[in-house]
This record gives sequence, structure tokens and C-alpha cells, in this order.
Amino acid sequence: GVVVGKRVKSRRKWKRVMGVLRELEEGCETTVGRLRQVVDAMAVEMHAGLASEGGSKLKMLLTYVDNLPSGVSGIGIDIKFFAFELSIYTMSSVRLTFDIVMNEKGTYYALDLGGTNFRVLRVQLGGQRSSILDKDVERQTIPQHLMTGTSEDLFDFIASSLQQFVEKEGNGSTPSFVRRELGFTFSFPVKQSSVSSGLLLKWTKGFAIEDMVGKEVCECLQQALIRKGLDMRVAALVNDTVGTLALGHYHDVDTVAAVIIGTGTNACYLERTDAIIKCQGLLTSSGGMVVNMEWGNFWSSHLPRTSYDIDLDANSPNPNDQGFEKMISGMYLGDIVRRVVLRMSQESDIFGPASPRLSMPFILRTPLMAEMHEDDSPELTEVARILKDVLEISDVPLKVRKLIVRICDVVTRRAARLAAAGIVGILKKIGRDGSGGITSGRSRSDIKMRRTVVAIEGGLYTSYTMFREYLHEALTEILGEDIAQHVILKVTEDGSGTGAALLVTKFLHRKSLCKV
Ligand code: GLC
Repeated sequence: GVVVGKRVKSRRKWKRVMGVLRELEEGCETTVGRLRQVVDAMAVEMHAGLASEGGSKLKMLLTYVDNLPSGVSGIGIDIKFFAFELSIYTMSSVRLTFDIVMNEKGTYYALDLGGTNFRVLRVQLGGQRSSILDKDVERQTIPQHLMTGTSEDLFDFIASSLQQFVEKEGNGSTPSFVRRELGFTFSFPVKQSSVSSGLLLKWTKGFAIEDMVGKEVCECLQQALIRKGLDMRVAALVNDTVGTLALGHYHDVDTVAAVIIGTGTNACYLERTDAIIKCQGLLTSSGGMVVNMEWGNFWSSHLPRTSYDIDLDANSPNPNDQGFEKMISGMYLGDIVRRVVLRMSQESDIFGPASPRLSMPFILRTPLMAEMHEDDSPELTEVARILKDVLEISDVPLKVRKLIVRICDVVTRRAARLAAAGIVGILKKIGRDGSGGITSGRSRSDIKMRRTVVAIEGGLYTSYTMFREYLHEALTEILGEDIAQHVILKVTEDGSGTGAALLVTKFLHRKSLCKV
């Protein structure tokens, strides 16, 4: 009787756990139909964000980057640009300055502050094409207390790192070749007033330094540099997506957009200036400008949202903010999984006695989640190890370990597919999703689709194979094979920082904005 009773109990227990799993799967459903709705919503919100200030949750921020480096162009194109600008200058009363992009050789420094890591870079540029001759990167993790302290402490830390780096590397190089101009990649929403200045709109990704919101970002850095006695000046202030687009374009001129999927997620792309309605009279030599979408804040009723997402958001330092980011990026995925496991452990005892660790926010970091997800040992020994070491849950049977893998799969698959829908949303907005010809009566397969490159960076995409594969799969599903084969996702290593250094050379001599 006792044995039978136990079995019945255990069966009931599994039934409840399976119920939780099924509910999760249903809540995370991303059929192609639903993804297409997300694509459409993204394109619609992009329009709205470009039409008026505050017109959408998508901020669609101007970057003042109106032309991108191209390693292959060389001196010929540069002169053409020069001539083109000259003719505009004589034809109208618009105030313009010229880009002198030739021969910007020297050593450039760049700072990259964005997520869990902080980087200092030294990029050696030379030759007539400003080619990258050499590169040196130093990475550091930002101490947690600096992410929620004062802006002075944070920027003192950044300035000291730069100082140490310059001093260490400086010996040997000719002083006149070390440029004083600095590229600064600052990966938070910034309302720019020029390519080298802007106000911080809000923090994301767990940063919360209240005294800095609304302040001039470069001024904070500049003051810290002065305190350290460093004679350097910020010549380009860029978002990580913009740096990535710059480096992507430098390597491949078919690059039209850049996406980051790391601690946070965001995208930028090249837009026609006449489509940026909220800023009329914007005139650039290229007729275009890079727009930082801040897509992490995208929202649509079509997004598949679960109770775990709602709780995660409510308990975050920025509730009702960055909804898309909270379903996709590395800062959050592990915590969604933790919340599901916690719920299951409350419904049953399949994880043994309740572990207090399971109630600790962010204890299960996404890289560990990826390790569990990609554990291909027959006994799932990695899963067992991480459950024991991180969550203090031991002796879980294989069946339960498999369940953990399943949860990771559901959460990652949804994230990757939503990111894919976001990318197609951009392609749709710029007419590169292959749908453009349908109205003119041609069939989908007749349309000659141009080669379209999207630069991509961030640990989730580069280090999480399952995430990457799900993203690619969804892109093909949404676009169809014929179109998808023309869309290339290209990883740009260290793009956010290196790209900033390249942009410094582009904008070094520019004094005024091209705005009437
Ligand atoms: C967050 C930031 C955004 C950045 C992204 C990726 O979404 O707000 O500016 O590009 O993270 O780092």
C-alpha cells in the first residue's frame, strides 16, 4: 500500500511540474505568424519614432554619424565626397564643413563602457586608407558598486584605467603620432547634439547612477581626465551598435545595420535623412544618418509574455522599461530560467528540499544557463554540477536534469526568434526584406534582392551556439529561403570600440552640424 501510494504521489507531482512546463511553452510560443506580427510592429514603431519626439517607445536617436568608414574606398572616393560637399556649399546657404578623411594616421585610443565589461583600446591607423595596422585591447569587469554609485567614482575608475594603459603602452611610440582625440563608446541611451556630445537619457542593464541622468556624458569623462592630468579630448561619442556598424561597414560596404545581443540588446541602421521627419532640415553629404533605435525598449502586444517576465520586470530597477531587452538579452535569460525552476520547486519536491539559492535574483547567470543547455554528455553531468554548485540542489535524477535543459531551450529559443523578428523589422523598414516588389505586381521570387549585411556582436550571439542557430533558423522561416540567402549576419570582433576609433578619424575635422 505504501509503495503504491508513493507512486501515485510521485505521478501527481510530475503532472504538476509538466503543467508548469506546458504553460511555459505555450506562453513562449513564437509561431512564424506571431513573429511576422512582431516584424510589422517593429517597422510601424520605427516609423512612429522617426515621425515625432516621443512618438514611440522606440527612441530612434540621431547619432550625427552621416558617413561610415570604408576600408576599401581609398582616396578617390574621399575626394569625390569632398567635391560633392563643395557643390552643396556653393548651391545653398547651408553651413557645411568638410571631411578630411585622408591620411589620418596615428595611434588612437578608445574607451568602451557598456555592460559587464569595460575596455580600453589602442588602434594604430595608417596609410591613405586609414587602415587598421594594429590593435590592442584591455578588458576589465566593472566593480558592482561602481554601477550604482556616483558618476565621479565611475569616471575616475575609467580615467585611471586609460591612464595606466597609455603609460604602459606609450613607451616607444613617437609622441606626435599619439592622437589626443579619444573615441568613447558609451552603450546607453544618449540624446546626442553632435557626434561628440550628448545627454544621458536613462540607465539600462543594471546601472543606476542617479546623479548622471540628464547630464552631458563627455563632460563627466572630460572632468575625470582633467583630474588625472590626461590631455585628451573626446572626439566621438558613440553607442556600441554604432561602433559595430562603423567597423562592419569598414570591412564590408554592404553593411546596413548593426545588432548587439549581449548583456543588453539594441540595433542601429543607416536611415535616409528625409525619412527622419522629427528632424526636418537635416542635411548630410551622404543623404543618410545612422539612427540608434534603442530597440531594447520596443514593446508590442504581440510579444509572447509570461508571468515570469512580468515578475522579473516588476522586481527590476527599471520596471516598465526595456521590455524587449528583458526577454532577449544575457542579463535576463538566466534569471527567467531561475524563476521557472523556483516555481516548479514550489509546486513539487522534484528538486529536493527547497534551496534558498533559488530565490536569489540573478544567481543563475546566462553563461551557466548556456552551459547547461549545451551539455551533451549522456548523464548531463554539467547540468548536475551547476545545479549543485550554483543553486545548491544535489542528487537530481536524469529525468529532472533533462527538464532543466528543456526550460533553457524554451527560454533561449523565444529570445533568439524575437531577435530575428527585430532584424527583419529593420530590413522591412529599409525595403530589404524582399517584400518591396509585391505591390508592383511581381512575384516574390522575381525580385532581385540586394546583398544585405548586418553586423552583429555580443556574447549571446557569439558564444551561445543554440541561440545563434535558433536566430538563423527564424530568419529563414520569416523571410523564406530565397530572400534569406541574401541576408548575411557578420560578427565584428571588438567592433564597438574599434569602430569608435575609426569614427574619430572621420569626424576629427568636423566642427559644425549639417543642419539648417
Ligand atoms: C542597452 C542600451 C543600449 C545598448 C545595448 C547593448 O539596451 O540601452 O544603448 O546598445 O544595451 O549594449
